[in-house]
Parts: sequence; structure tokens; C-alpha cells
Amino acid sequence: MTDLYKMLTKRKSMRKFDEELFIEKEELEDICGKITNLVPLDPDINVHIDVVTRDDTDAKWGEYCLLLYSEEKPRWLENAGYLLEQMDLIFADMDIGSCWLGLAKPNEPEDNGLTYAIMLAFGKSRPEDFRDDVSRYRRMTAPEIWTGDFDASAIEAVRVAPSACNSQPWRIVSEAGKITVFRDMDTEAPYVGERIKYFNGIDMGICLCCLEIGLDHAGIEYERKLLPEDGKTAGLSPVAEYVIK
Ligand SMILES: Cc1cc2nc3c(=O)[nH]c(=O)nc-3n(C[C@H](O)[C@H](O)[C@H](O)COP(=O)(O)O)c2cc1C
Repeated sequence: MTDLYKMLTKRKSMRKFDEELFIEKEELEDICGKITNLVPLDPDINVHIDVVTRDDTDAKWGEYCLLLYSEEKPRWLENAGYLLEQMDLIFADMDIGSCWLGLAKPNEPEDNGLTYAIMLAFGKSRPEDFRDDVSRYRRMTAPEIWTGDFDASAIEAVRVAPSACNSQPWRIVSEAGKITVFRDMDTEAPYVGERIKYFNGIDMGICLCCLEIGLDHAGIEYERKLLPEDGKTAGLSPVAEYVIK
């Protein structure tokens, strides 16, 4: 994956856009090219990412939206989160602000038999609209999400990752050449009720994307194994294991 490490602390959920700024035609073409180069978490899950204007959705902000449609297979939500987090960070690199929108809906709930999963609204921003100070993050501390000694820059990559309602459902254990990533099944979020369960699937894909950017940045080689869904509805559910080479 491209080194997007710096973008982890530049990105933020952009909810205000200057109406005088527009994404140029060439930039839009560039974005479409970048979408085709995204790396999936599971290449066996068929997905399609549409670029539409905001009018094709009920989103309240952004000039355009990326709509991700997917086959509903095990770990399809994690795959969606993993794919679009790459775009979230690529957008920051292009001074394009973006925002995950779980509560907005596209006009088309299906695309050629694929189910709508999630959208990322985006629009041109100014460099100064982005984050420049990591202390302005509202996030859990490293010991709250990560158990075990590990490279601090890799831990930080996960710690600052975005999640629905900032619920941060990831819990990570590192020990003897192995990292195990768990999902906390007990997160709660005001306003969204049970829908947080759905969004947390996407969040876990975002977490894996950010973790791998952190590992790559730290020069740590690994082999990832995506674990089967265990059907747990409470406690910690394992999502992936990384064997450090
Ligand atoms: C799957 C997902 C769904 C989200 N849905 C919404 C949404 O509907 N509306 C919104 O304003 N923000 C939404 N967000 C943005 C989160 O609230 C935000 O990422 C989190 O509070 C952390 O803030 P930051 O992105 O500025 O770092 C969503 C984020 C994710 C990952």
C-alpha cells in the first residue's frame, strides 16, 4: 500500500465545505484512476465503487460521494471499510476533505445485484482545513486499545483511526511475533442504536487498513490472516491475525 502514514493525522471528518471551491475535471479523473488501484482486504468479494454527485444521495455536504456496493459475503463490511479508508487518506493527500456517512443513503440501494454498503462524501478543501495537531483527536489512549509491547508508530496508526460515532471498537493484543485484532462487540452509540453493530464491521476494516499503513511505515513485514466470523454478539471477537516475519 502507498505510504499514507502522514495522512492518518491530517485527515478528519470534513463537514464544512467552501462553496467556492470545486473539484476539477482532471482531479475527478485522477480519483477514478485511484479507485481502480485500491487494494481489497478480500479479493474474492465483488465490489463496485460509484462516483456520484451529492444529488444522487441524501447527504448534507460534500460535492461528490463515493458509494460502495458489495456482494454480501463474510467480512464484506470489513472489506468495504478497508477499501474506502484508503480513499479517505488519499483524499487528504489531495487536499480533498471527506466524511464517512453511515446515516446518509444513496438514491440507488443496489447496483447490478450488489448491495449498498457505505458512502464517503468529499469535496475540495484548503490545506488549513485539515488537522495539524494530534492533541485535537478525541480518542482512547494507546493502553486502552493495545495490550503488549510494540512499535509506537504502528500503535498510533490504529489509535487515530476514524470510526462510526467515534466508537473505536478495536482491541489489539501483540505477543511473541503475533498481533491479534479483536472487535469489541459491546460498543454503544447514542442516536444510532443497533446500527452501530453494522457500522462497527466497517470500522474494523478501517482499523486493519490503518494498522497495515502503520506496519508498512515502521518497516515491519507481516502476513495477515483474516479470521472467520465467530457469531459472537458480546465480548471480544477475533477479526484478524498478523504474523510478524
Ligand atoms: C462507518 C462510519 C460511519 C460514519 N457515519 C457518520 C455520519 O453518518 N455522519 C457524520 O457526521 N459522521 C459520520 N462518521 C464520522 C465519525 O463520526 C468520525 O469519523 C469520528 O467521530 C472521528 O472523527 P474524525 O473522523 O474527525 O477523526 C462516520 C464514520 C464511520 C467510520
